[in-house]
Amino acid sequence: MAEDLSIISGTKAEQYQSLIPQIKALVEGETDLIANLANVVGALKEQFDWFWVGFYIVKQAELVLGPFQGPVACTRIKKGRGVCGASWEQAATLIVPNVEAFPGHIACNSLSKSEIVVPVIRNGEVVAVLDVDSDQLDSFDDTDKTFLETIVSFILFQ
Ligand code: SME
Repeated sequence: MAEDLSIISGTKAEQYQSLIPQIKALVEGETDLIANLANVVGALKEQFDWFWVGFYIVKQAELVLGPFQGPVACTRIKKGRGVCGASWEQAATLIVPNVEAFPGHIACNSLSKSEIVVPVIRNGEVVAVLDVDSDQLDSFDDTDKTFLETIVSFILFQ
């Protein structure tokens, strides 16, 4: 796999469709978790230029900050806390069009306006969450949910 990502313009779905085989190729054949999480984040940030994109990894009773791109962020989140902790608890993707309207939202950065959190589920357990923040309201929809869930399914957790 060449390290250069091909970035395209087009609809959101077209951008994901271009990105998905590239992300698959990046993580295929690599077993190191941090390397794979870092490249997934890098590819998403490069294509979409979101405000913040990163992983939180389940470690004991908390989510702990993993590879990300964007401003510095909170390092530990408890189950049920904020959008990330709620996604972990519910084992479900959460789309938040306006973070200020989400009870308990954790404001790591005041510029973040909308958010999507996708759980990574292996053997019925949430092992990590992918968190994407936008500095615009209402940036995420079911298209993001579908494609981001596909993308996190490629990552080998062991
Ligand atoms: N806003 C998140 C916390 C993580 S940061 O946005 C990077 C939440 O409410 O869980």
